[in-house]
Amino acid sequence: MDSKHTDKTAIPKRSHRLVPKDNRNTVGEKQVENPKMRCEEISVFYDNGGTKAINAVSLDIGTNEVIAMIGPSGCGKSTFIRCLNRMNDTIEGCKVEGRIYLDGKNIYDKDVDVVPLRARVGMVFQKPNPFPKSIFDNVAYAPRIHGLVTSKGETEELVEKSLVRAGLWNEVKDRLNQPGTGLSGGQQQRLCIARAIAVNPEVILMDEPCSALDPIATAIIEELIEELRQEYAIAIVTHSMQQASRVSQRTAYFHLGDLIEIGPTEQIFLNPLHQLTQDYITGRFG
Ligand SMILES: Nc1ncnc2c1ncn2[C@@H]1O[C@H](COP(=O)(O)OP(=O)(O)OP(=O)(O)O)[C@@H](O)[C@H]1O
Ligand SMILES: [Mg+2]
Repeated sequence: MDSKHTDKTAIPKRSHRLVPKDNRNTVGEKQVENPKMRCEEISVFYDNGGTKAINAVSLDIGTNEVIAMIGPSGCGKSTFIRCLNRMNDTIEGCKVEGRIYLDGKNIYDKDVDVVPLRARVGMVFQKPNPFPKSIFDNVAYAPRIHGLVTSKGETEELVEKSLVRAGLWNEVKDRLNQPGTGLSGGQQQRLCIARAIAVNPEVILMDEPCSALDPIATAIIEELIEELRQEYAIAIVTHSMQQASRVSQRTAYFHLGDLIEIGPTEQIFLNPLHQLTQDYITGRFG
């Protein structure tokens, strides 16, 4: 399909009846033409199989796309996003079923090394978590580990470039040797973003990256997300529907482990197809 036609994708008029609450099959288009990541039938269990947190979820993350993941607390957003760089592997008793392709290669294949995978698919958490190191070393650490820099000059250049891109350089350039933990919350979160992009990832996962930030710091991060999208694919979990509409092109609505609805963000918020989505966006749930 060429872009002339996709641009015209009209929001369907509300002539349809909403899909009833007890129907838990995903409605909407799960796949995109140019996926960066493709998830097929992902189920996640905790407590060695005792609890099922995600139930056969399939969706694509497009190239140069921001996809927002929304839904009530406990519906599995963090669990799902952690599957995308195998962070759930670190949780005792957690089991993931299904397939997730990154550029066509299943990241759950036996021959996949999670260390380079997590450099390709970086993550930014809800609570900024700088290392107990200097601002400089927070950014330089991973590129050194991954052998992306070999000299002092190269390292300095990469640290500066990453901090500039994260919109933090001007605020920290005179204090690079001070601890990262001494920055404000919003600055720490931008430091964590600089750290994530320093290894030149292809996908960035963000789990409620702005929930602890004020509106000004939030606006800076949202602008940054829009800029990063030019080069990366981004999946962001958010409880703010305003944020989802501002930053994302597609939105996925989760409910109790099921992917209920997925589609263009505007359509999800203005004209959802499922009763559960409608209830959530109008404030009747969560
Ligand atoms: N480490 C864990 N061990 C056992 N159960 C877990 C673990 N982490 C999450 N769960 C369970 O999995 C389900 C989904 O949790 P998850 O944290 O993914 O939800 P969420 O949508 O991110 O919620 P929130 O919006 O509150 O962050 C919940 O029932 C939760 O209790
Ligand atoms: Mg969560």
